[in-house]
Parts: sequence; C-alpha cells; structure tokens
Amino acid sequence: MLNLAIDDIRLQRWIDELAEISDAAPPAVTRVLFSEVDLVARRWVKQRFAEEGLSVREDAVGNIFARWAGSSDSQPAVATGSHIDAIPNAGRFDGVVGVLGALEAFSALRRAGFKPRRALELIVFTAEEPTRFGLGCLGSRLLSGAIDPDRAAALIDADGVTLTQWRTKAGLEDARAGKLASVRLAPGHYGAFVELHIEQGPLLERRGVPIGIVTAIAGPSSYRVTLTGEGGHAGAVLMPDRHDAGLAGAEIALAVERAAQTSGSPDTVGTTGVFRQLPNAVNSIPCDVTLEIDFRDTLLDTRTAAWSRVERAIADICDRRGVRWDLEVINANPPATCAPVLVETVTEVCRALGLTCDRMVSRAYHDTLFMAQVCPTTMIFVPCRDGVSHRPDEYSSPEQIATGVAVLAHTLAELSSAAQA
Ligand code: GLV
Ligand code: MN
Ligand code: MN
Repeated sequence: MLNLAIDDIRLQRWIDELAEISDAAPPAVTRVLFSEVDLVARRWVKQRFAEEGLSVREDAVGNIFARWAGSSDSQPAVATGSHIDAIPNAGRFDGVVGVLGALEAFSALRRAGFKPRRALELIVFTAEEPTRFGLGCLGSRLLSGAIDPDRAAALIDADGVTLTQWRTKAGLEDARAGKLASVRLAPGHYGAFVELHIEQGPLLERRGVPIGIVTAIAGPSSYRVTLTGEGGHAGAVLMPDRHDAGLAGAEIALAVERAAQTSGSPDTVGTTGVFRQLPNAVNSIPCDVTLEIDFRDTLLDTRTAAWSRVERAIADICDRRGVRWDLEVINANPPATCAPVLVETVTEVCRALGLTCDRMVSRAYHDTLFMAQVCPTTMIFVPCRDGVSHRPDEYSSPEQIATGVAVLAHTLAELSSAAQA
C-alpha cells in the first residue's frame, strides 16, 4: 500500500481561503451560481489546479475538469469531485471538501510517486445547489443527459435572467465552449466516479465512525403549487365568504408533512420550503400563493404513493375553499444505487488503513445521483459536527477531513491502476 501523507494544514488553508470568497459575512458562506464571487471562486480553484500541474478545461455550462493524464489514456478515466457553489448563509465544507480534498488527494499521490494508469479527473460541477434556478445538480444533469439541453437553456432565475444570459456573462457562451448539448458525456466516458463529502447528518459522529460509504442516494422531487383565491379587506369580508389562498397553502403544507410521516418508509421526507403570498399585508386576505415543495425517499414506490396523497389533498383542500390551483413538477428523479464493486473497494481501503466504516444511504442529493446514470459510483462521507449542514456553523475537523482524503486517494489509486475500473 502507498505511504501517503495528507497535508491537512494546507488543505485547511485552502478551505478557509475559498470561504472568504463569499457574499456573506464570515463564518457564513454564500456563493450563488455565476454571481461575481462564484466567478472569482472558479478562477481561484482553476489556479490551484494549474499549480498542481493538472490540465484544466471547462464545458459549455461551466463544469470544470482538471485532468492528471495516465499512462493508459485509451482507457476511461476515473473521476472524483463535487461543487463549490453554496446556498445563502451556508458553511464552508459542503461540496468544497470534495473538490479541495480531491486536489489534496491528487497532490499526496503525486508526492508519494504514484503514476496513474487510467487518467484521474477532478470535476467541479456547476450549480449542485438549486438556488438560482430552483433546480439542483444542473451540471451533472447535463453531463448525464438527465435534462434536455433546450429545457436547461431556457431556465430562468427569480430576476428573469436565463441560463444562457448568465453563461454569456460568465464568458462560457463562446464557440470554444460550444453549446449545452455538447456537455453530455459519451457512453463509457468515465470508468468510475467517487465523491468525497461531509455526511450532512449525525450518524457517523454519533457512532464514532470516521468513514461512511454510500450505497444509495434518496430520489429527490420538487413541485411548485400556485394558488389563486380571492383577496379582500381583512376586516370587511366575513369568514363564510372567504377564499383565502394562504390558508389553502397552510393546509397543503400540513398535508405534505402528514403524507411523509405516514408513507410507511422511514426515509420519506417532505418540506414546504417556499411559501410566498400576496399581497402580504396584515389587513388583506392572501389571494396569490406560491409553494415549493421538496419530497424525497430512498424508495421510489413509497415516494410516488405518498405524493399521490398530497395531490389528492391539494384538490380536496382547494375545492373546499374555492381556490384555484396549478401544480408544476420541477423535477422528479429516481433514487440512485451505488456500484457494489466500488463500495467493496472503499471498504477494502478502510480495512487496509485500519479505519472503521459504515455503509449508509445519502438522504441529501449530490452530483453522484446523476453520475450514477453514466458510470459506476459511490461516495465517501466524513462526520460533521452535530450533523449540521447548510448553516454557517457547519464543521468537520481537519483530521476528519484528512481521513476522508486518505481514503479517497487510496481508492483513486486502486481504481486508476485496475485493468477494469
Ligand atoms: C443538496 O444540497 C440537497 O438539497 O440535498
Ligand atoms: Mn448543499
Ligand atoms: Mn453538497
């Protein structure tokens, strides 16, 4: 086994430097796709990649690929990576650990004299977070063909700016970068994809286990419900005469909770994360409401059955209240199953390093959900304090991260050296 030294001090410095490129006051990090700070952060990571001697290219949606050529470049490369965009008021580790940790994994392998047989590629995926367009994993959806490029090009943000306009602003719309259809990977392009990430849940820390190996990723779905009632004076309109879209929305949010709680699967979760109402004035009856609902499960059947109950509840509630409704499916993706052979490879690496590990499902989604459609995948999780994520106080220690980086580095070395990844 290679003798690897992970430079956790430099890695922590990189993580801290990247966290400073943010639209939020420290310790919070906000880095929304193609904002000024996101563009600065992209340049910053590309510089780090170039300093490590990697060749860097960018595709038409801004996915960044940093390649360490192998001695057998006719064989599919082995890939790793994650994202550097961050939701408003996030922490510094979500996604970043999988990008800068992978860079340190490459660097440690190089210092140890490792020479890849299959090329190793580090991917920074565009917009894993749904903040700008309401749709997560934009880059990996396009890479895997899970979204039609024309639908992607027409995506529009809350200010009415399209993805095409944002790409132009980011300098991606030129002939060299090509059009969105060119992002899709050819079949067999990668031999394997392994993503390092913080757990974003409490299990590893609670059990005192340093490494989680992901066997499946819950299938996410999200919906937009538009409700149109009848507005009016909060003092003058009598209760029996009302068609209050806000109350219909409140009942729907409760129906979402109930459907998730009673689905029969412990992994069904439902969240009405967006609730906008107009005119949003204390003495006016809400007449226009928009809800955005996130609904997930590791099992597609229970998710589908539970969501059907939500749809029936929406119809019943709106019928009873005399409120018009419209339902738009933003996305509905099946769960992903990770490749048993890769789960086994990571397990073997942990065994060889004397580390305990747990197999687990990921309830959060990741770009791996879509990469699983084009190559064998798995993920390596490291613990995070109190399971906290998507918050400024998100934290994993340098030692916990370095352990994950060591497992990733050995796994990549194994897969790069194998005749078949
Ligand atoms: C990703 O951040 C998710 O919402 O699971
Ligand atoms: Mn996230
Ligand atoms: Mn993430």
